[in-house]
Amino acid sequence: MLMLAQTPLEDSVAQFAADVRAGLEKPKQKELPSKYLYDAVGSALFEVIGLLPEYGLTRAGSRILRHHAEQIVRPLRTPVLVAELGSGSAKNTRWILEALGRRQLTTYHPIDISGAALVQAERELDRLDSVSIVGFEREYLDGLREVAARRAAGQGLLVLFLGGTIGNFDRPAADQFLRQVRELLLPGDHLLLSTDLEKPEKDLLVAYDDPAGVTAAFNLNLLARINRELGADFDLDRFEHVVCYDRAERRIEMHLCSTVRQSVRISRADLGVTFQAGETIWTESSHKYAAQEIPRIAARTGYRCLSQWYDREWPFAQNLLLAE
Ligand code: TRP
Repeated sequence: MLMLAQTPLEDSVAQFAADVRAGLEKPKQKELPSKYLYDAVGSALFEVIGLLPEYGLTRAGSRILRHHAEQIVRPLRTPVLVAELGSGSAKNTRWILEALGRRQLTTYHPIDISGAALVQAERELDRLDSVSIVGFEREYLDGLREVAARRAAGQGLLVLFLGGTIGNFDRPAADQFLRQVRELLLPGDHLLLSTDLEKPEKDLLVAYDDPAGVTAAFNLNLLARINRELGADFDLDRFEHVVCYDRAERRIEMHLCSTVRQSVRISRADLGVTFQAGETIWTESSHKYAAQEIPRIAARTGYRCLSQWYDREWPFAQNLLLAE
C-alpha cells in the first residue's frame, strides 16, 4: 500500500514564483527549471510521451530491466531498501521489484515532486504483494535523505535513477549530483543509473518533437501551469515548442518560442515580462552519453561501474554502480 510520508511543502507556491521570476529575468537566455514541467497534467502527458513510437527511451529502459532484472539484482546485499529518484508512475520499476520480491520482503520508496505520480505508482504496483510502498513527495536529495535516515543497521540501499533523467543535468551538474547522492550512501550500496546514448540527430529531433504534438503539449503545459498557479496571462497560441540538437554539448534542448513581440503579466510573481518575436524560454536539456563514458564518470564521483546492459533497438544503457 502507499503511504505518503510527507505532505507537500507549504511554501511551494512562493518558491515556484521566485524560481519563475529568477528564470524569466535572466538578461540573455530566459529559462524555467524543468522540474516544474511535472505537475499532475505534465506527469500524465509524460506517461503518454513514453508510448509514442518516436520516443524510444522509456521502452528501451523497460526492455533491459525486463530481460535482465535477475542479473541486475544478483550482486545486491539482502536485505535491501529501494529508493527511486523521480519515480513517475514507476512502470519500469516493476521488473526490479519483482526480482527482489522473489528473494525477500522489499520496501520501496518512490520519490517524486508530483503527488499525482506517486498515486499512479501505487496503482501500477498494487499487485506486487511482497513489496510495501512508502512514497515521498519530495525533491531527489531531500527524499533520499529521508530514506537514508530510515534504513536499519545492516540494510543495503539500492537507488534507482531511471529513464535517462541524469541527462537533464548539464555534465558538470550531473557529476555534482552523483557525488551528492554518493554522500548519502554507504560503501556497498548500489545505484542503478539509466543513460540515453548518442544516436542519429534525426531520431532525437523527432523523439522530442513528435508529429502528434504530445511533446509540444507537455512543454506548453508549463506556461498553462504558471497561468493556473501564479495568475499569469500567457497566451499559449503565441508560443511554440521548439527543439534543437547542440552537437558540441551532445544535447537536445527544448524551448518555448514566442511567435510575436508580446508582454506577459505574472501577478503572483509580481512580474511583467516582454518577449521579442522569436525569443525563447529554455525549459529543458537532455544530454546524451557514450557508453564508455559511464565507468569514468562513476570512478570520479565515488562509484565503480560493475556492469552495463544495452538495448540494441534504441541505444540506451542501464549501468549498475557500486558505492565505494
Ligand atoms: N526527461 C525526459 C528526457 O530527457 C524529459 C522529456 C521528454 C522532455 N520529452 C520532453 C522535456 C520534451 C521537455 C520537453 O527525455
